[in-house]
Amino acid sequence: MKILESLKNRRSHYDIHKDIPVQEEKVFDLIKEATELVPDAFNMKSSRLVVVTGAKQDELWDNIDKVFEGKVPREKIESFRNGYGTILYFYDNDVVKGVQEQFPLYADNFPKWANQSVGMLQLTIWSGLKELDIGASLQHYNPVIDDMVKKMFDVPESWILNAQMPFGGIGSHPDAKPSEDISLRVKFAQ
Ligand SMILES: Cc1cc2nc3c(=O)[nH]c(=O)nc-3n(C[C@H](O)[C@H](O)[C@H](O)COP(=O)(O)O)c2cc1C
Repeated sequence: MKILESLKNRRSHYDIHKDIPVQEEKVFDLIKEATELVPDAFNMKSSRLVVVTGAKQDELWDNIDKVFEGKVPREKIESFRNGYGTILYFYDNDVVKGVQEQFPLYADNFPKWANQSVGMLQLTIWSGLKELDIGASLQHYNPVIDDMVKKMFDVPESWILNAQMPFGGIGSHPDAKPSEDISLRVKFAQ
């Protein structure tokens, strides 16, 4: 699929379920390949992912519910728990610190660049999943869930959680988006 077509098809899918139309391996391959292909400032390769499926998927969302002590409506938690899996996105702050020492002139920029790169990866995987007819959305229960996630998946202390992407088979599709006057946001200069 061409990139604009792929981007047009990507949406926030909140109505997801556990039946996916492809073998799990295809999803895992997409995630691995995207992680290898998405660029990173100074090629620092700071993004880290944990792909949660199976019993751990249910456990993750039950734990998020517990950490929020009921402050997130249970039906919202259920909507994400209903998915096939959740991709947890991090960047490794040890990598960031390493390049900060190496290139002190840009030190302040590296955490921003690490976040930008993990954002690029999210869009790539989000769009790629939709190409496989799998719906996803992007959630941010961090930093409240950081300690629980670190413990649950035994991730290094230096991994900083950036986002959670629940994904699964598509129940219903979101409404079409209204068109916008893009000239308000894009200028051309010659
Ligand atoms: C950086 C970023 C953060 C977002 N955070 C959330 C979030 O925490 N929860 C959520 O439901 N959607 C989140 N979204 C989804 C946006 O609200 C959504 O992409 C936007 O409204 C456009 O809708 P669409 O995804 O269907 O095109 C986020 C999107 C981006 C790019």
